Amino acid sequence: MILKDIDINKLKDLFKAYKENYIITNNDYIHNICYVKDNEVIGFVIYQNLYDDIDIIDVFAKEEYRKQKIATKMLNEILNEKYNKITLEVNTNNISAINLYKKLGFEIISVREKYYFNDDAYIMQKK
Ligand SMILES: CC(C)(COP(=O)(O)OP(=O)(O)OC[C@H]1O[C@@H](n2cnc3c(N)ncnc32)[C@H](O)[C@@H]1OP(=O)(O)O)[C@@H](O)C(=O)NCCC(=O)NCCS
Repeated sequence: MILKDIDINKLKDLFKAYKENYIITNNDYIHNICYVKDNEVIGFVIYQNLYDDIDIIDVFAKEEYRKQKIATKMLNEILNEKYNKITLEVNTNNISAINLYKKLGFEIISVREKYYFNDDAYIMQKK
């Protein structure tokens, strides 16, 4: 089951599974999409919506549920809406995420060098 804009406090455990000390900025423009299975949240997408533009901030699926199209289903909730453009950054070493975004129609539009400490980032976009 997919839920939208749930109380961000309910994602705390999952944020911890994603990254230790994970902090997200929360404001009126920040939204979430969550995947719930057997009453447990097992995946999330955090994104920012400013006017007609979307910035995907984070996408995560719990390790034991990966490769079951959970991220695809959550992102399709956004992609099925009408937006001007959807943009994200991804570590150039993160092959699974890059494949996911390419499969959903995102294209690499630029590279930001040393965006993640020593690693570069691709800026990917879908219009
Ligand atoms: C990236 C991530 C969100 C993918 O979630 P997921 O639910 O497993 O993804 P899906 O099942 O929807 O996969 C869709 C497509 O993405 C690609 N993909 C996903 N996992 C992959 C892997 N381990 N290796 C290669 N390609 C992969 C494939 O093209 C896949 O399609 P296929 O199953 O038909 O081959 C997940 O691996 C994750 O949470 N990673 C850690 C957090 C992270 O890196 N997030 C991205 C930050 S920008």
